[in-house]
Amino acid sequence: MAATDRTSTEAAIAVESAHTAHNYSPLPVVAASARGAWITDVEGRRYLDCLAAYSAVNFGHHNEEIIATAHHQLDAVTLVSRAFHSDQLGPFCAALAGLCGKDMVLPMNSGAEAVESGLKIARKWGTDTKGVAEGMANIIVADNNFHGRTISIVSFSSDATARGGFGPFTPGFRSVPFGDADAVAAAIDENTVAVLVEPIQGEAGIIVPPDDYLPRLRTLCTRHNVLLIADEIQSGLARTGHTFACDHWDVTPDVYLLGKALGGGVVPLSAVAADRDVLGVLNPGEHGSTFGGNPLAAAIGSTVVDILRRGEFQSRSAELGLHLHARLRSLIGHGVLAVRGMGLWAGVDIDTRLGTGKRLSMALAERGVLVKDTHGSTLRFAPPLVITAEEIDWAVDHFASVLAEAGS
Ligand SMILES: Cc1ncc(COP(=O)(O)O)c(C=O)c1O
Repeated sequence: MAATDRTSTEAAIAVESAHTAHNYSPLPVVAASARGAWITDVEGRRYLDCLAAYSAVNFGHHNEEIIATAHHQLDAVTLVSRAFHSDQLGPFCAALAGLCGKDMVLPMNSGAEAVESGLKIARKWGTDTKGVAEGMANIIVADNNFHGRTISIVSFSSDATARGGFGPFTPGFRSVPFGDADAVAAAIDENTVAVLVEPIQGEAGIIVPPDDYLPRLRTLCTRHNVLLIADEIQSGLARTGHTFACDHWDVTPDVYLLGKALGGGVVPLSAVAADRDVLGVLNPGEHGSTFGGNPLAAAIGSTVVDILRRGEFQSRSAELGLHLHARLRSLIGHGVLAVRGMGLWAGVDIDTRLGTGKRLSMALAERGVLVKDTHGSTLRFAPPLVITAEEIDWAVDHFASVLAEAGS
């Protein structure tokens, strides 16, 4: 039941703050329900969601098709662990492998788990197939990457906050500038088993690489017998106007890492997709997860794949993305320094004289538009792909007003 006085927001934040680890700094908005691109708070105020849970809600809040699948599966079976089979896992993996053009899928839960799994698979493939001596494998990553928060992943982060106090770190990674294929070429040696990249860097501020970057990485990896691993956890599943961001450059990686929207905004569901010669290196007991590929998640994942097969969200993102980017670019010189991105995914650099990204996000939230800053002075616009052109206009109009107020 939605409460109606201001204190319910304060009370919810107080209890969360007292008993929840302070590993995030959320805006003071307390969600109580959500439909489509809109979130309603505990006091009945409505907000246009322009973050979509960092792209986990690509198909809209309470997407009816996904929710219907979830209801149906809740009444059937939700969890058996991988000790037994389920009637949902095989069809889901077959469908997702088909969508990726790969043979096999390893189902996991969070995005970070998919990345960890991808790293393990690359090392095992290096040892078993490429013939790299045990313990000698190296993996090339990009500066300013974001692949999650586990120890091995932060081991190759360039973000001091993500690493500070968390050592010792996992060895075996080489970080080179994002977008620089020559630097990757120089870093590859006979013990390199993989190059791991976000095709478009998300948390770094929606950074789109030069057009020849991914095609050149593809050529280099093939030439040196190195796996190209694309972390499409944030960029994939229709966000940029294609099923995968790699599709913009006609590049097929050896390994896709997927998460976020794969769970339909309902359950954590992530996956590694690759051909049999790569994923086939895993044998019973070498990797796993109690919840990975559970029937509820698998059923939802199958519906997500069905939705993606139809292509409607890829088209919406491509078309409406042009509109979003044109509207945002018109603010350059009016408080906006630069706009980057593809599809319904935009990183907007703010003139820091107008205030921090956090302060502008707060001002937008007060007007009913939810965005979040990344790296201090960049705002990320990544609405659910169900958003309409009118709603985009409404959000950007408010953004323009907030910038004008901040500059006056
Ligand atoms: C590119 C990328 N990889 C991995 C992750 C980690 O996903 P999760 O938060 O589900 O562990 C994220 C999360 O933002 C991401 O953007």
